[in-house]
Amino acid sequence: MLQEEASPRYRDLRSWIDRVERLGELKVIRGAHWDLEMAGIAEIVAREAKAEMPALLFDDIPGVASGYRTLFGQLESTQRLALILGLKVDRPEKLNYVSACRDKLKNLTLMPPRYVEGGEVLENVEQGDKIDLFKFPLPRHHEKDGGRYFGTGHCVIIQDPDEGWVNLGTYRCMVHDQRTLGLHMSPGRHGRTMFEKYLSRSQPMKVAVAVGADPALFLSSTMAVPRGVSEYEFAGGLRGWPIDVLEGPFTKLPIPARAEVVVEGECLPGETKEEGPFGEWAGYYANYGLTPVQEPVIHVKTVLYRNDPILTCAHPTKPPGLNLAQCLFRSAMMWDELERAGVPDVRGVWCHMVGASRLFYAVSIKQRYPGHSRQAGMLASQCGTGVYVGRYTVVVDDDIDVTDLWDVMWAVVTRADPESSIEIIRRCRSSSADPAVPPDQKSSTHNPTATFTSKAIIDACWPYEWKDRAYPVAQISRELRGQLLTKWGGELKGIL
Ligand SMILES: Cc1cc2nc3c(=O)[nH]c(=O)nc-3n(C[C@H](O)[C@H](O)[C@H](O)COP(=O)(O)O)c2cc1C
Repeated sequence: MLQEEASPRYRDLRSWIDRVERLGELKVIRGAHWDLEMAGIAEIVAREAKAEMPALLFDDIPGVASGYRTLFGQLESTQRLALILGLKVDRPEKLNYVSACRDKLKNLTLMPPRYVEGGEVLENVEQGDKIDLFKFPLPRHHEKDGGRYFGTGHCVIIQDPDEGWVNLGTYRCMVHDQRTLGLHMSPGRHGRTMFEKYLSRSQPMKVAVAVGADPALFLSSTMAVPRGVSEYEFAGGLRGWPIDVLEGPFTKLPIPARAEVVVEGECLPGETKEEGPFGEWAGYYANYGLTPVQEPVIHVKTVLYRNDPILTCAHPTKPPGLNLAQCLFRSAMMWDELERAGVPDVRGVWCHMVGASRLFYAVSIKQRYPGHSRQAGMLASQCGTGVYVGRYTVVVDDDIDVTDLWDVMWAVVTRADPESSIEIIRRCRSSSADPAVPPDQKSSTHNPTATFTSKAIIDACWPYEWKDRAYPVAQISRELRGQLLTKWGGELKGIL
């Protein structure tokens, strides 16, 4: 089944990329432009590739120094994720990967970062007037975007002013000019809460942004790691050995010693500037349509980077897009949360990519008692992992493959009677990127209001009272399928 590989260690992003290349999962593309071409190609490949997309390394990018590169689609294959987590996966069923992620999380021991003296990120250090963020191959992602982005596949590092712990989160950073960045953090994000604390004291907030960090650190910084736990410790635990850090010369924050690029700077209290618009994860410009929004500004004081740096980028787009890692880890975390909340006999959880793993969840159970399916649905929709929008949750019986949208929707249209099978919960947690909320109800500095969504729980299990008399499924059995393929497979070659 799934076993730890003998020596899963890789040194940094570059040595991980070498392994990806050996797996045959790296495609180098030369000459694509930063303006719409790199991200556009990544979108086409993500949507149209026959199998899982390769990682795309863009080189020889017009307008930037030779050797400066970008990497798209880092976490978009199960093999590449297995490489990060040190797992060998023999059976490629999707739920097997969810189980592997659950095992990882269950056995995870937090590992503090290790302070080291030097690191490749110190190969180039620039300050003051020497800083020019446009020397990096900053992509413009979508046609209607308001700017170029330094940070999309990155980690924003901030220290809590009260509690002292260091959070890493992936919060997008748009480039305003050579030395300033915009920072978009949704309400409730750990970084945003810390920012609000600095704001309430009228203190500047020191911040570092690391691009091209260890893939395990990037993965952790996109995950709902509990409040108070640093993603440095979490990523160390995921990998199985600590992340090496240095003290940032300006911020004194721990910064990854072998990241490709780190910028350090500060946000001044009360200062905001228009950020975006930017095409978002749900597949829309849903923050405020095409109107930019006032967001905090990072004044960059130091830039540290390796020779020939690689900018890691993530490209949000209308699904099917790029969010495999989120899908697997959210499914794993939701499954664990359901079990911890006391839901028995959960057989599968899948946070579907059609909803960017945030809008449509499917949970399968072996029904044990009346109300079991409603319990599973309500909790999935409201647990820590599911609460962020999570508009639709479908609960199905265990004969349904939760990872298969056809199977899940077949259960909905055949087993769920709308009048009695759908529960609506009102005034639930929404998001600044929620496209179902009209623009005038979105909270922003222009419009400080509260934004909510309603949620539907669709109970697509056979009703408990007559589940034992449920209608038989009209489909050939596994056994008959096997027999027929053994006998007739040759005849069907080229068709199946
Ligand atoms: C590629 C990618 C980009 C993201 N961009 C943003 C963003 O710009 N702003 C934001 O608030 N959350 C963004 N998120 C979601 C957060 O990174 C995620 O919720 C993370 O858990 C936040 O960390 P925190 O829990 O420490 O706040 C993004 C996630 C991914 C996978």
